[in-house]
Amino acid sequence: MNATVNRQILLVEKPSGKLGPEHFRLVEAPVPEPKDGEALLRVRYISLDAANRAWMQGATYRAAVETDNVMAGGGVAEVVASNAPGLAPGDIVFGDTGWQDYAAVPARHLTRLPRIEPLTHLLSVYGIAGLTAYFGLLEIGKPKHGETVVVSAAAGSVGSIVGQIAEIKGCRVVGIAGGQDKCHWLTSELGFDAAVDYKDGAVFKALKAAAPNGIDVYFDNVGGDILEACLPQMKNYGRIACCGAVSQYDGAPSDHGPRGIPGLIVVKRLIMQGFIVMDFMDRREQAMADLQAWVGSGQLKVQEDVIDGLENTPQALIGLLAGDNRGKRMVRV
Ligand SMILES: NC(=O)c1ccc[n+]([C@@H]2O[C@H](COP(=O)([O-])OP(=O)(O)OC[C@H]3O[C@@H](n4cnc5c(N)ncnc54)[C@H](OP(=O)(O)O)[C@@H]3O)[C@@H](O)[C@H]2O)c1
Repeated sequence: MNATVNRQILLVEKPSGKLGPEHFRLVEAPVPEPKDGEALLRVRYISLDAANRAWMQGATYRAAVETDNVMAGGGVAEVVASNAPGLAPGDIVFGDTGWQDYAAVPARHLTRLPRIEPLTHLLSVYGIAGLTAYFGLLEIGKPKHGETVVVSAAAGSVGSIVGQIAEIKGCRVVGIAGGQDKCHWLTSELGFDAAVDYKDGAVFKALKAAAPNGIDVYFDNVGGDILEACLPQMKNYGRIACCGAVSQYDGAPSDHGPRGIPGLIVVKRLIMQGFIVMDFMDRREQAMADLQAWVGSGQLKVQEDVIDGLENTPQALIGLLAGDNRGKRMVRV
């Protein structure tokens, strides 16, 4: 390995309002030496996730990110040197590489991956996004043939896969997304039955028109007002899979929670359950087999949004939070 410089993006300040470029700084450091049990990685693709912003608010399912550290983030990387048994130069891995060119990471925190082409699929459909959609919908939402499934952030990385899996399972699928273009894309390209533009007026009314018989499964990526609009439209014994709350991540959360909790949950006998994809990792092979079969048969379309250049990573996250991505956003380093 000839490179000596490691470009890194630090989080220099935690935002109190909206995330901006001023919260990050690009610096140069020496390429690290891997210690015993570590592998030195060349980062190839950095995953941009709405959760990156939530980590700045405090501890979640992981520790909070702290200032003056390399910004945390998942990445697909190639091993360039290894002091760990089981990893060799040339291996492809997934782990919390952070926003940088090179990372020395303990092997026990890395997942060795097959060298699938394109490598980008290891972050999208075969990565956290695809697995979250798969397990969250099938294990928490438990959709049955003929049921109505509604998904929010439907044109994003998780949502676009949720809707397509629900179609494969024979459901009527309604996506909620921001803007006419995204909504048109969901119905014309991804085969959703209907789409609601939540930026164009009252979601409740538009949802009622799109799902006139009510909702059996709501896959909630956003929380807030959209969850509130879905709750009264749930059918008795409906399931709400709580995947995330992107409407609450960037800036001050709304001062009231969704109304109707717990009253509507009681009256409609709803099951509302959160989940973290990591809990299902022991069943990853089963999910991968299904996802690969659906991609191979053309039933599942993979939408990726690849941005070039480490230096563009902050803007890529800021933009994602504002909804300028379609499908899985990542940065090619
Ligand atoms: N539970 C788990 O294990 C797990 C794992 C991975 C991800 N997640 C969750 O999955 C969700 C999707 O994350 P992702 O990383 O895949 O991002 P993504 O869906 O690709 O991008 C985020 C999308 O959220 C939408 N959005 C932003 N602000 C919104 C608002 N106020 N109301 C409604 N929609 C809004 C934007 O689309 P529009 O243009 O439509 O607004 C944006 O494209 C997040 O809640 C994340 O935390 C959970």
